[in-house]
Amino acid sequence: MTCTPGEATAWDGEAPRTYPPCVQNYDLTGKVMLLGDSGVGKTCFLIQFKDGAFLSGTFLATVGIDFRNKVVSVDGARVKLQIWDTAGQERFRSVTHAYYRDAQALLLLYDITNRASFDNIRAWLTEIHEYAQRDVVIMLLGNKADVSSERVIRSEDGETLAREYGVPFMETSAKTGMNVELAFLAIAKELIHRAGQQTQEPSFQIRDYVRSQKQHSSCCTLA
Ligand code: GTP
Repeated sequence: MTCTPGEATAWDGEAPRTYPPCVQNYDLTGKVMLLGDSGVGKTCFLIQFKDGAFLSGTFLATVGIDFRNKVVSVDGARVKLQIWDTAGQERFRSVTHAYYRDAQALLLLYDITNRASFDNIRAWLTEIHEYAQRDVVIMLLGNKADVSSERVIRSEDGETLAREYGVPFMETSAKTGMNVELAFLAIAKELIHRAGQQTQEPSFQIRDYVRSQKQHSSCCTLA
């Protein structure tokens, strides 16, 4: 079976780009968006998941929005995740808002070494409620958990905020890969579950799954 040509376009400040047809080798597709302040590590998070590599060195802020596809196998099903990497900078917000409504899942990142990025999570959640689908899957991620010496946000603070909003939470590292794959696998499982294709775990709960599977950073106390 062939995918519909032009099923996705990305905005990069120029004309929208249309991508060529592809051969379908999956059972389900899901659109996942990465959100959060500029510099929290969204692009690195995506590259780590897609290619298993870490982009270190000079920080190049994302312009507008772009996406990558990756097919994951979970519970006997193949799920094509179309992952949209958004620009965290304020000046691109009106561009990225237009993409929220198509997303089935949102990964909302803050940087555990940057208080402002954590404080802004409430504002991000307000935007999500304004622009995204009402039943969108949201996951809160405290990224850069490898940089324990510069930590300013305790793991418990992330847990508390996530509990308040009823969303799953974990700390991650786009550098070491900690919990990166798990975030996407949990989303894929949830999408399978919602599509009614799941038979192995009829009572699948994404928050319980994440809680039981996540790795903890070796150090999470503040200096
Ligand atoms: P915008 O595109 O502006 O929205 O930023 P972004 O959220 O995509 O951030 P990006 O992935 O470009 O990363 C910003 C900086 O943080 C880069 O210098 C990365 O190398 C660094 N970085 C990202 N993730 C991690 C991480 O998990 N650990 C560490 N130590 N550094 C990270």
